[in-house]
This record gives sequence, C-alpha cells and structure tokens, in this order.
Amino acid sequence: MDVDYIDALERLLLLDEEVMQRRYAIFRQVQTEHQVVYSEKLQRWIFTRYSDAREALRDAHLSSEQLPSVLKQLPSEIRDNLDADNPLLRQANKIMMSRDDPDHARLRLLVNKAFTPRMIELQRPLIERLTRDLLDQMGQQEHPDFIRDVAIPLPIMVIAALIGMPYDSLGQIKQWSDAGADFLGKPTDTIEVFFRMAGAAMEFNAYIRPHLEERRRQPKGDLLSALIAAESQGDKLSEDELIANIYLLLAAGNETTTNLLGNGLYTLLTHPDQLELLRQRPELADSAVEEILRYESPSQITGRHTRQELDIAGQHIGEDQSIMLLLGMANRDPQVFNDPDRFDITRKDNKHIAFGLGPHYCLGAPLARLEAQVILPLIIDRFPSIHLMADYRPHWRKNPTFLGLETLPVDLA
Ligand code: HEM
Repeated sequence: MDVDYIDALERLLLLDEEVMQRRYAIFRQVQTEHQVVYSEKLQRWIFTRYSDAREALRDAHLSSEQLPSVLKQLPSEIRDNLDADNPLLRQANKIMMSRDDPDHARLRLLVNKAFTPRMIELQRPLIERLTRDLLDQMGQQEHPDFIRDVAIPLPIMVIAALIGMPYDSLGQIKQWSDAGADFLGKPTDTIEVFFRMAGAAMEFNAYIRPHLEERRRQPKGDLLSALIAAESQGDKLSEDELIANIYLLLAAGNETTTNLLGNGLYTLLTHPDQLELLRQRPELADSAVEEILRYESPSQITGRHTRQELDIAGQHIGEDQSIMLLLGMANRDPQVFNDPDRFDITRKDNKHIAFGLGPHYCLGAPLARLEAQVILPLIIDRFPSIHLMADYRPHWRKNPTFLGLETLPVDLA
C-alpha cells in the first residue's frame, strides 16, 4: 500500500492522467506517512510537508541555480559543442530566479527599482477595462471558454502593456512565454524543451533589442524604460541582464496567472455556496483569491539543489542532489491548515506558500493578485447565472509544475 502511493506520486509528477484526478488523496497519504521521499525515477528528494518546504525556501545552503543540472542532462555531443560564451547561456546565467546571492540579491534589487508595487497598482484601471472588454467578447461567443477567451489573453495583454510591447506582438509573446514556462516546469523532457526554449530566446533577443535601443534614445513611462534607468549606487543592469529578466517576467507570469484565474473560476463554480457568498459579499474577493492560491496552487512545485552535504527535513542529503518542494501539497498540510480540503473563502490566517517564500518570493505576486481580485467579482456580476457545462470534465495541462485547466467551457445563460 505504502509503495503504491509513492508510485502514484511519481506517476502524478510524470503527468499520468488517471492519477491526476485523485492528486490530493495521494498527497495526503504520502504526506502523512513520509516527511521525505527519494524518487529513483525522478532522481530527486521530495519534501512533502509545509514546515520543511518553508524551511528549504529560506535556507541559504540550498541553491536555486538550475543551469548546471539542465546542461548535465543534455547529450554530451551537444554539451561539448556549447561555447561558454554562447549568448543564450550567458543570458540564462543572468535570470534572477536561477541565481543565488549575492548575484540574485543584486539583480532583484535592480529589477525591483522598476517593477514596483506602485507601478503595478497603476495598472488597475487598465486591468478593469481589459477585463470588461474580454468578458463582453466572451458573452458574444457561441461556445464561450473562460480559459481561451479571458484567462489566457488578460495576463498577456497586461504584461505587454506594462513592459511596453505593442499588442500586435501578443501571439509571439504567448509562444515565448509558453516555451519559458515549459522550460521552468517540465523536469522530465529537458532536451526537447531546452531547444524550444533556446529558439524562443533567440527570437526574443532579435525582437527586444531594437525596442531597448529605442527606449535608450527616447524613454517612455513603461517598464522597459524603467528597467534601463534602474540604478543602485552606480550599478545598472547590463544588456544581457535586461533581456534575461524581461524574458523571466514573461515566462513566470503568464501561465501562472492564467492558471490562477482558471482554477479560481472552476473552484468557485464547483462550490456554489462559496460563489454565492462572494456574490453577496464582493469585499471577500481578496481572501477568496488567497484561498484559491492555497486550494488549487497554480505553481505546484519548485526546486533546490544541495551545494554540500546537509541535514534537513530529518534527512541527511549528500552534495549535488536535487530537491523538489511540493508547494501545492504543502498548502494542503493538515498540520497547518484546519480542514485543508475545505474550500473556504473566509479562511483566516491563510499562510499558504503558493508564491514561495524567502529571497525568491514571487516578484509578480501583487500583479497576479490584482488581476484575480479584479476579475472574479466582475465576472460574477456580469454573468449572474454562469455555470459549468453539464458534461464538463476537467483536463489539467501537461505540466507537473503549473496546475491549470486546458479549457473551461461555461454556460452564461
Ligand atoms: C498566480 C500567479 C503566480 C504564481 C503562483 C507564482 C509563483 C511563483 C513562485 C512559487 C516563485 C518562487 C520560486 C522559487 O522560490 O523557486 C515565483 C518567483 C517569481 N515570480 Fe511568480 N508567480 C506568479 C505570477 C507572477 C507574475 C505575474 C510575475 C511577473 C510579471 C512573476 C514573476 C516572478 C519572478 C520574477 C520570480 C523570481 C523571483 C526571484 O527569483 O527573486 N510571477 N513565482
């Protein structure tokens, strides 16, 4: 029985449809019986509990550097031909999410100077306007699908406007961000995903360089201009650092926010009492969003590596080992959350770790929260009778890291 559950967990992480439907039952069983699991198949240590995931996210002995392990998985004939000064490898080494301090702290400080909570809050009127337009358009569709019609386009339009990229690039932005999200999220298909990501990064370089050049000559009020201008004690972002981290904002922010919006509406529609409560009390939108983040965490997994031998989570782990932190599982830990499988938009003291924690805590959390807080009350108000199609069965996207629905067809009548 015990081994079966670990096998089921591995199958889940390798995206077996059949086990996806009972993911939380599997999580609970593994979490109750094992603090840590070592998966031979995945070659990773898996931390199952909230307290250990929290500790690991804040532990400076654990590394976020991903590139060495990705390169290790490439066939040697490819790896040996990669020039150390290859521009894409150079840029990959500048992405703040996969750097450790002090490089990480420096990059984050500079990006933070431009990508400020104030700049995000200024997007509220734009988000409201775009949401109303997209909801109107969805209302005119013969077969409305919330994912296709609203949850995919909204985050792309918002981030494109914020960065200062024209709307005629939206299709390309989606492709580049999907390639990035696959790269961040699929630990098992590394080679194919690596090359798709490399192709997207090359196209993105060709696209963004002229825009950067133009903003240097003539700054505007957008994020590109603010990132170019960002400075701390005489230090500035280099061209490679700019491109790498603008790409990161696209890749880290689109699929995750799409999933938050889609998982949010799906969960409300499958919990009509909570939907009704939100309709009666729209001021609960903020705590509803926190509960959605906990209950169906859009980003289910993150990872760390050991740089040296280490005692953590009651385990002795050797040097150069990979650790998987199951954020979605941690957010259902009964040691921390009362009745964790109950979806309760009034939940108090909701200390979920859906946006991570510690030095790499999600930089885009205020933006993702704002989009969800705006959209949920608006959709309930605009379509009071909205419900799921009678024959709808959820199909989750094929990415173990990012939990989101392929489609969400809705009946608006
Ligand atoms: C619901 C939506 C989102 C979720 C669930 C989410 C989740 C996360 C998580 C779990 C991390 C930490 C990863 C780690 O420690 O290994 C993270 C980091 C990050 N996120 Fe998000 N994210 C979301 C939206 C966004 C958005 C909209 C943006 C930007 C526009 C963004 C940009 C970033 C960046 C730049 C980092 C790296 C921060 C660092 O390394 O210091 N995210 N995100």
